[in-house]
Amino acid sequence: MQNLRQNTRKNRILVKFSGEALSGKNIFGIEIDILRYIAEEIKLLVDNDIEVCIVIGGGNIIRGVSAAEGGIIRRTSGDYMGMLATVINAVAMQEALEHFGVDVRVQSAIEIQEICETYIYRRAIRHIQKGRVVIFAAGTGNPFFTTDTAATLRAIEINADVILKATKVDGVYNKDPNKFDDAIRLDKLSYDQALKDNIKVMDDTAIALAKDNNLPIIVCNMFKPRNLLDIIKYQKGVYSIVKN
Ligand code: GTP
Repeated sequence: MQNLRQNTRKNRILVKFSGEALSGKNIFGIEIDILRYIAEEIKLLVDNDIEVCIVIGGGNIIRGVSAAEGGIIRRTSGDYMGMLATVINAVAMQEALEHFGVDVRVQSAIEIQEICETYIYRRAIRHIQKGRVVIFAAGTGNPFFTTDTAATLRAIEINADVILKATKVDGVYNKDPNKFDDAIRLDKLSYDQALKDNIKVMDDTAIALAKDNNLPIIVCNMFKPRNLLDIIKYQKGVYSIVKN
């Protein structure tokens, strides 16, 4: 098989962060300061010669599961609504990155051509090789899959070294560290452990996919400035990692 990365020794990563992160102090929408902050963190990676792709959730706008709770909206439609939400976030992030001079393309798993490109694997690879950040929007394009699964799928497709799951905390805990003082951080765990102990680093489908393809998952705090760069470039601040 052709090695699409034969001419590059650069780190290639996929950063996944939740839509909720974008809403900041609010429970809905996009807070511009957060958008700016994340764009600056991503720019730091790009400026350090790291190839970056991004997947953003859509929970700051709508979540399929919650939309379906009232019994009116069917789960399938709710999930498609959620996919559209991720496109909104991706376009916002594209604007923010461009504002800081980062070359960026959005590719959607659902055709929505007036707004962004459609996901084409080979084209995504070319964008990355040209130093562009690629934001993958609309999840996998299918209902009943999460954006964590979409992120894992795309990370595997583009042959990323690692997926960085950027959260509000610095790793994986046995319980919510924001609620429980005695929460214990789990520094290294295997995919099987994460699945067996029901440790929701990501949903089971995403973890199983990562396991089958040996893709390491690093859980990190996205709100610590320079953390993403420290982790990838200097291997500093890697607390929780899921791998074999
Ligand atoms: P190269 O082929 O490497 O030059 O990449 P490029 O992305 O600059 O080329 P292209 O001419 O395909 O795209 C120019 C601009 O149009 C970029 O901002 C793309 O994201 C955007 N673009 C390309 N295809 C589509 C599409 O189907 N829909 C939308 N909305 N924008 C597109």
